[in-house]
Amino acid sequence: MENLRIPGPTPLPDEVLRAMSKQMINHRGVEFGQILNEVTANLKQLFQTKGDVFLLTGSGTGGLEAAIVNSLSPGDKVLSVSIGVFGERFASIAQQFGAEVIPLGFEWGKAADADAVRQALRAEPKVKAVLVTHNETSTGVTNDLASISAVVKEFDKLLLVDAISSLGSINLPVDEWHCDVTVTGSQKGWMAPPGLAMVSVSEGAWRAQANAKMPRFYWDFTRAKSYLERGQTPWTPAITAVYALSVSLKMILAEGLPNIIARHARLGQAARDGVKSLGLNLFADESHASNTVTAIAASDGLDTKKMLKILREEHQVVLAGGQQSLDGKIFRIGHLGWISEDDIQRVISALKVVLPQAGFRSGS
Ligand SMILES: Cc1ncc(COP(=O)(O)O)c(C=O)c1O
Repeated sequence: MENLRIPGPTPLPDEVLRAMSKQMINHRGVEFGQILNEVTANLKQLFQTKGDVFLLTGSGTGGLEAAIVNSLSPGDKVLSVSIGVFGERFASIAQQFGAEVIPLGFEWGKAADADAVRQALRAEPKVKAVLVTHNETSTGVTNDLASISAVVKEFDKLLLVDAISSLGSINLPVDEWHCDVTVTGSQKGWMAPPGLAMVSVSEGAWRAQANAKMPRFYWDFTRAKSYLERGQTPWTPAITAVYALSVSLKMILAEGLPNIIARHARLGQAARDGVKSLGLNLFADESHASNTVTAIAASDGLDTKKMLKILREEHQVVLAGGQQSLDGKIFRIGHLGWISEDDIQRVISALKVVLPQAGFRSGS
């Protein structure tokens, strides 16, 4: 079997795979309503929120679009705090729907600086919302969301958070950190297949939603809420993915969120220690290195494309390359969801063999 170690989709436990072979049911019937209500209640616990949580059929990007179109009107100013590919994507969605995006970018590989956010908000008092990526999957960096949130709330702005590759794996207490809309995706740390975006909506986000004029239909939170009150989703949901998530959430709750967060911290450390022991350098600033994905710089003659190919073909280890301008410059190990220390060790052992075959000369 392949050791699939990209930052999502991830391998799934047998119980979750079995859940996906269940027969279809009426998505407007009682049985589906019970599953949806239970999944929603479990998600609220894991988001650490008393606010609303909706299950949307779509990928994480759909959830980001939902966050934008339910919060903003064309012409609204938004501050885009971006540290990589996914921060840029969040900003592009806002721009596409007519927001005036004020970019606040940081060098890729580094985390955002809360003081710079403060200065930007001082300079632009009309900003309506701040867009932040909690865990930037393209660079392997986790932002200090608590500090950024404290600044955003000093200025009483809406906080829209891409937590697609962090929620459920890295601590993110949604209410305590005053996140207004928080988005995650089923294929990341949730031990579920792709197909669902899960979003939380605060009271402040509902107030903004009442006046938000961006066009929306499929992603309208008002429709999601009124259908959820009847145990339904507005549109036909990805029932199979919901079956899977319903089982994986029970497994997650049985392990316990604090234990899962601690396991990801151990795995992140093991991945970082492992690659460094081979003479590789981390791409991310280690003080903010992510516990769900490790990005490694291509140095000392390493041909990452050749390395990824040999790993895949000869060792059944599947890692990710770099995206956009990082293509060929970094590679990434995903360590989120259903994963143990042994899985990381298999990756490190395979890398040890393959690195010299792909041109790497440590310290050259
Ligand atoms: C931080 C982050 N944002 C957004 C996305 C996009 O999610 P999707 O591919 O599910 O649309 C991803 C997926 O890799 C991600 O890691």
